[in-house]
Amino acid sequence: MTAVKIDGRLIASKVRDEVNVRVQALSKQGVVPGLAVVLAGDDPASQVYVRNKERMAGRVGINAQTIRLPETLEPSQLRETIHRLNADEAVDGILVQLPLPGHIDAALATSILNEIDPAKDVDGLHPLNLGRLLAGEPGFVACTPSGCMRLLKESDVICRGRRAVVIGRSTIVGKPMAHLLLAADATVTICHSRTQDLADRVREADIIIAAVGRPEFIKRDWVKPGAAVIDVGINRTADGKLVGDVAYDEVAEVAGAITPVPGGVGPMTIAYLLDNVTRAAARRANR
Ligand code: GUN
Repeated sequence: MTAVKIDGRLIASKVRDEVNVRVQALSKQGVVPGLAVVLAGDDPASQVYVRNKERMAGRVGINAQTIRLPETLEPSQLRETIHRLNADEAVDGILVQLPLPGHIDAALATSILNEIDPAKDVDGLHPLNLGRLLAGEPGFVACTPSGCMRLLKESDVICRGRRAVVIGRSTIVGKPMAHLLLAADATVTICHSRTQDLADRVREADIIIAAVGRPEFIKRDWVKPGAAVIDVGINRTADGKLVGDVAYDEVAEVAGAITPVPGGVGPMTIAYLLDNVTRAAARRANR
């Protein structure tokens, strides 16, 4: 059996077309959606991601700006930037690109990010939006998990009643992903670095979401024949090649459907960021 390759670029362009229609309607009401991306430091991968976000925002008619802060920034600088953007009427969505420089530890980073106005939290990281997801109420959902759900839907993968395994428990991918799958009536297991018998857990899954951050970690014999495999990983190997968390070539021989890296989940993350920004702008238009 050879898996169907899920074309994230094609599906993302469909999402952007949908977003573009809504952006045009908003423009007629005098509202141009605005996105502010805060980029602290000079992490090379983050530079590339942020440039792509700006470019794609421009394509659908969203007004994107990037605020660059130095690697050595003081936490107060970041807080002040967030407060200014919270108060800026033209900014509908605020995204602080992660990771933050190393001198800002995880707890401090979370406390700063929590100062983003939940109504502008297009990353879906504010506890209010995370709580809304848990409660099944409308709110902002992190872009990558939303994108993964759309990939499953467009590939006619049924979630209801089926076993899904999410590998990774981050606040930005693993946890929201598990809740979206649960809301779609899947039976969900969250695995992580301390999970025992990980390969056995993965082998039970009809739907596998790999978000571990380890290159080609998931092997062919971990995958149930016919399973849908969504690879969130983006890892650069020693020879400069981009690979996912799944050993693509061998897993594609057994899976039913699989996303490539690049060209799978990555473009969807950006498309759903634009979707979230447009939602935020629609709320402004209705005020
Ligand atoms: N860094 C890598 N992916 C993401 C993302 O989705 N949001 C933010 N804020 N930073 C990231």
